[in-house]
Amino acid sequence: MHRRTIGSSVLFAFYVLWSGAALAAADAPGAMPPGMDERVRACTSCHGVQGQGRNNDYFPRIAGKPADYLFNQLTAFRDGGRTYPPMGYLLAFLPDDYLRQISEYFAALQPPYPDADHTEVSPKVLAAGQQLVMHGDPARKIPACIACHGARMTGTQPGIPGLLGLHASYIAGQMGTWRSGTRRALEPDCMHTIAVKLNDRDITAVSSWLARQPRPADPRPAPASAERLPLACGSQPQ
Ligand code: HEC
Ligand code: HEC
Repeated sequence: MHRRTIGSSVLFAFYVLWSGAALAAADAPGAMPPGMDERVRACTSCHGVQGQGRNNDYFPRIAGKPADYLFNQLTAFRDGGRTYPPMGYLLAFLPDDYLRQISEYFAALQPPYPDADHTEVSPKVLAAGQQLVMHGDPARKIPACIACHGARMTGTQPGIPGLLGLHASYIAGQMGTWRSGTRRALEPDCMHTIAVKLNDRDITAVSSWLARQPRPADPRPAPASAERLPLACGSQPQ
């Protein structure tokens, strides 16, 4: 059932995106093309009508993340830095310009967040997660997650995504693929450097704690930091 749903959304997605790419070629460079809502229906079948993600499901929120971050992800799915075949096929022949337009479209949306996770998790695990996110672990040279992802955890312009509104299974899955090297980001790939220092217990702790945090009143990413350190990660121009 699940398989069939994904299969048909991908077929439909091909159609919508291809007609979109053809139209995009005719647009003035830089202008937000008309009818974007229609064109991104390929994407919203999985990511929610406004890219908000889905309740109780793996599909991640994409709305409101920095446009450069989204663009880096789309090129990664297209070019091999991230692997998820239903998206890889969709993006295979789409040019950078078009992927930028899609990224800007979703970055500008701020739909409400899905419900926070309320599953049973021991207070000890949650405390360990909070400690790592807020303070890191200097003894193991693990930086605080908020150093880059922002004190409010809503991300930092231009290349660092927010960590709220994602499901624990998604966060844990991403940390796992960074650790194993199947998810790669632009150099310096800080998340790989960090993920290899985390054990399974750390990953369970941070992902359970993050997924339970209340949704931010102001979901916008923090502005780019003047110091650039350690924010150089993920902020290179393409
Ligand atoms: C068949 C369902 C499906 C379709 C269709 C789909 N996605 Fe995804 N998308 C996913 C899943 C699942 C992931 C997480 C994959 C992983 O584990 O890395 C994802 C990840 C992403 C990410 C990375 C999110 C992040 O926070 O790092 C972006 C950006 C994204 N999708 C955008 C799109 C866009 C734009 C489209 C339309 C062109 C699209 N997706 C179509 C299911 C889908
Ligand atoms: C030195 C800066 C830095 C620190 C510290 C950092 N991150 Fe990241 N993080 C990044 C960057 C840059 C990206 C985007 C990488 C890319 O483009 O794929 C990212 C992406 C992520 C993502 C992907 C989100 C998504 O939507 O797919 C997760 C999850 C994440 N970080 C979790 C963490 C956790 C948990 C910690 C603390 C243990 C942490 N990060 C600490 C820089 C950092």
